[in-house]
Amino acid sequence: MQHFLTTADWSRSRLQSILDDARDLKAEPYQARLRNKTIALIFFNPSLRTRSSFDIGAHQLGAHAVVLEPGKGSWPMEFELGSVMDQNAEEHVREAARVLSRYCDLIAVRAFPKFQDWSVDRQDKIIHAFAEHATVPVINMETITHPCQELALMLTLQERLGMVDGMKFVLTWTYHPKPLNTAVANSALMIAAKFGMDVTLLCPNEDYRLDERYMGLAQEYTSSQGRSLTVTHNIEEAYSGAHVVYAKSWGALPYFGRWDEEKPVRDAHKHFIVDAEKMALTDNAFFSHCLPCRRNVKVTDEVIDGPNSLVIEEAENRLHVQKALMSELITP
Ligand code: CP
Repeated sequence: MQHFLTTADWSRSRLQSILDDARDLKAEPYQARLRNKTIALIFFNPSLRTRSSFDIGAHQLGAHAVVLEPGKGSWPMEFELGSVMDQNAEEHVREAARVLSRYCDLIAVRAFPKFQDWSVDRQDKIIHAFAEHATVPVINMETITHPCQELALMLTLQERLGMVDGMKFVLTWTYHPKPLNTAVANSALMIAAKFGMDVTLLCPNEDYRLDERYMGLAQEYTSSQGRSLTVTHNIEEAYSGAHVVYAKSWGALPYFGRWDEEKPVRDAHKHFIVDAEKMALTDNAFFSHCLPCRRNVKVTDEVIDGPNSLVIEEAENRLHVQKALMSELITP
């Protein structure tokens, strides 16, 4: 039994075989591969794409999906072993994960960081607690990384560009009124590096570097394939010659729990918006974003609605890659 918590645990060739299967599933969506199987989708945070694509994907493969929202339709949950449960939580993950494992063939979890203390958030305790106590495979539906989004992004790039080795991938920080999760940024960096792209991280200053765990993995992947990982705060340098521009906003890690101090820095970089002027510096680059996306804050209407925008294709591909992933985990 293997979990899908982060692509760091999976080889490039194994991920590629999921992408290849996703292509087959895209061509032939209805297959009874998971007939009589059941998956649990546990959401501690909101979702449009993840929730609907997993639910619909399960249906298209003959499986049933049950959606749980702890603290709303199901009991609030505790994760610390040995805790005295005299607060809000009615149920411990140790029971929840084992009970759901008796009902289901797979458990998928979305649990965002709390944004108060990165040294705590980076331990990713909720998904690891499920993985520890479940007796069926566990899928990460976004915690501090978003590995399903990674698969969708790479499938989309391969559909448009073929094998992406040696192409310039720019992950650009963009402004957002709130400090957001670094998960998609961590993931975009890792998957582009793992698949042999030359990766550039564009961000306002050194405080917006991503966690060294992910920077280190990206460095390892790129250098082992003779590729580069570059961090820059220079917009022109980053966009110049790019083949892919991937936009995401995130809060600066050193400011976790002190967001009022980070806000003026973030507010001073609204000009990082992806616009036609910046895209003109690229090698006719494709643009993408994981969605949801604030128009004319992160990217202009002109770019997101333009012919090189892949946002809808990437969102569609969530469905196909997750079906391939569920198949791989449940019936390897
Ligand atoms: N990209 C993504 O995960 O979308 P949702 O938050 O709507 O699931």
